[in-house]
Amino acid sequence: MEKFSATKGKVCVTGAAGFVASWLIRRLLESGYYVTGTVRDPGDGKKLAHLWELEGARERLRLVKADLMEDGSFDNAVMGCEGVFHTASPVYVAGSDPKVEILDPAITGTLNLLRSCKKNPFLKRVVLTSSSSTVRTRDDIDPNLPLDETSWSSVELCEKLQLWYALAKMLAEKAAWEFARENNMDLVTVLPSFVVGPSLPRQLCFTASHVLGLLKGEAERFSWYGRMGYVHIDDVARCHILVYETGSARGRYLCSSTVLDNHELAALLAKRYPFFPIPARFEAHYGKQDYKFDTSKLQYMGFKFKGIEEMFDDCIQSLYTQGHLP
Ligand SMILES: NC(=O)c1ccc[n+]([C@@H]2O[C@H](COP(=O)([O-])OP(=O)(O)OC[C@H]3O[C@@H](n4cnc5c(N)ncnc54)[C@H](OP(=O)(O)O)[C@@H]3O)[C@@H](O)[C@H]2O)c1
Repeated sequence: MEKFSATKGKVCVTGAAGFVASWLIRRLLESGYYVTGTVRDPGDGKKLAHLWELEGARERLRLVKADLMEDGSFDNAVMGCEGVFHTASPVYVAGSDPKVEILDPAITGTLNLLRSCKKNPFLKRVVLTSSSSTVRTRDDIDPNLPLDETSWSSVELCEKLQLWYALAKMLAEKAAWEFARENNMDLVTVLPSFVVGPSLPRQLCFTASHVLGLLKGEAERFSWYGRMGYVHIDDVARCHILVYETGSARGRYLCSSTVLDNHELAALLAKRYPFFPIPARFEAHYGKQDYKFDTSKLQYMGFKFKGIEEMFDDCIQSLYTQGHLP
């Protein structure tokens, strides 16, 4: 398959301190790339320590300040980069105004970043981290037809169920596609399902803390996931790099290994790790969901997904190492 170049150039990763971005930066540095990571607070040494510990970081990583809500904030970070990986996005609504907290930063923030990218004459491709929630949140799914990249979630259903994260990711991705078309920009999107695996940041992100909760016996937070696809964090990072490096990559790429109902996941985990008090019952918030994912687009590129056991084994190992599990 056609590759951009044998020598690894300069790339930018937004939201560098995050769960997914940190692992992506690890793999990019290992591959020989020069990486500019954006963070909101470059002075927060504690939050960024894990990045400076990565192999190659001292020689080939630089961290710069950028905020999604500031126009032009990413100009400096992306200038001179051939590739931009846009992972930064709010994933948690703490307060009462989802529009301000999650929709605006996702949509306006993505457009701010793309406007900065447009000013960079060296840019070859932008890889945007979207989400499988932009595909599966709909009430007209035929259980016999696996969902692929042609599927888009329903705005009305997201609003009705107040699924602000799914709505934000979908509107941000759609805005990015429109911008790319209008500005002739090479954009590829990656749509991971629920990401599981070792966390490089010491402080667990929203989803990783929910996995920890599940292992400790909490049913409430996980019950909201209902039926869900799962994917290993290393597969998510490798997928971003593969679609960046493969010149012929086009459009959206669903990145998901296994789809399970939460009681199926819990049964599997309870059998594999009988020493954890994994809950057996979950409240059903959405009624019956019946969907599968068709990830053949990625698999045709030679991509192989790690299984559910490996992602949880690696995740649990890291939770022990970081002291989150006794
Ligand atoms: N985790 C999953 O299961 C999953 C699944 C599908 C897709 N995704 C997508 O993967 C990406 C990364 O998520 P994650 O799980 O790694 O979450 P995370 O650890 O919370 O990382 C999110 C990052 O976004 C940054 N961010 C948030 N608001 C920002 C703003 N206004 N300006 C600049 N940066 C901002 C945060 O920066 P600070 O460090 O400054 O707070 C953080 O680094 C997101 O796009 C998410 O939608 C995640």
